[in-house]
Amino acid sequence: MSSELPPIEKAKFVAAKQATEYVESGMKVGLGTGSTAEWLVQCLGEMVREEGLRIKGVPTSKRTARLAKKVGIDVITLDEAKWLDVTIDGTDEYDSDLTLIKGGGGAHLREKIVATASDRMIVIADASKKVDTLGAFPLPVEVIPFGLPVTQSLIEETLSGLDVLGRDVTMRMQGDTPFVTDEGNFILDLHLKRIGNPRQLSLVINQIPGVVENGLFIDICDMVIVGYGDGRVTTRDITNNTANVVRFDVLDDDNIFSDVAD
Ligand code: A5P
Repeated sequence: MSSELPPIEKAKFVAAKQATEYVESGMKVGLGTGSTAEWLVQCLGEMVREEGLRIKGVPTSKRTARLAKKVGIDVITLDEAKWLDVTIDGTDEYDSDLTLIKGGGGAHLREKIVATASDRMIVIADASKKVDTLGAFPLPVEVIPFGLPVTQSLIEETLSGLDVLGRDVTMRMQGDTPFVTDEGNFILDLHLKRIGNPRQLSLVINQIPGVVENGLFIDICDMVIVGYGDGRVTTRDITNNTANVVRFDVLDDDNIFSDVAD
């Protein structure tokens, strides 16, 4: 690993590295989206190329699909896989129940479908993602382009009756134009500051016509693996009610992914 790598990237890398412990030859693996998930894809690619790991990967975005193919992972669609052994993905926030906010990268729709179609979902994160109460990170809501202003008004109206602290709704942009998801939809970001009742919020938002899916992951995540810049990694499994800590030696001169770097 390069000595230039900042502690936050080391934290993401060791979390991803530890998550590979839960991947075995023959598995169908959901591959998440985002900077932490990219470390996982790199780690799995290295295991495929150098250790003979045989897996089928189901990417949760076009971006992840491109990287997975580049590093040598055999990529299949969810339709081909039908069901997955495990999905490993990053998160934008998680709380003590392992309820998540995802979609900062705009991929939460496919991420939720893939994670739900898996025996187990493992989240990998750095310590900054842990919160006492969800909502500081804006909640992404994927909406279809047709009737967007109406959908946005209905969301704003709905929020007025819910246990949240902020109620601003903004359109996700990419430069001067709306951000478009892999499914050709738009994203509204809900600046809620504090979500008092994630389950109620998720149900109510998803009932509004025009809403495709929100970024709350409830009762989906089974395990969270948190990395730290000093090489420590904590794992918490809420299904088996276990927790443990391991430590990686992060070598400054070990540039592990230089052969597939851009
Ligand atoms: C993608 O849409 C998101 O759900 C990501 O999984 C999430 O934003 C975490 O991304 P980072 O690992 O880059 O923080």
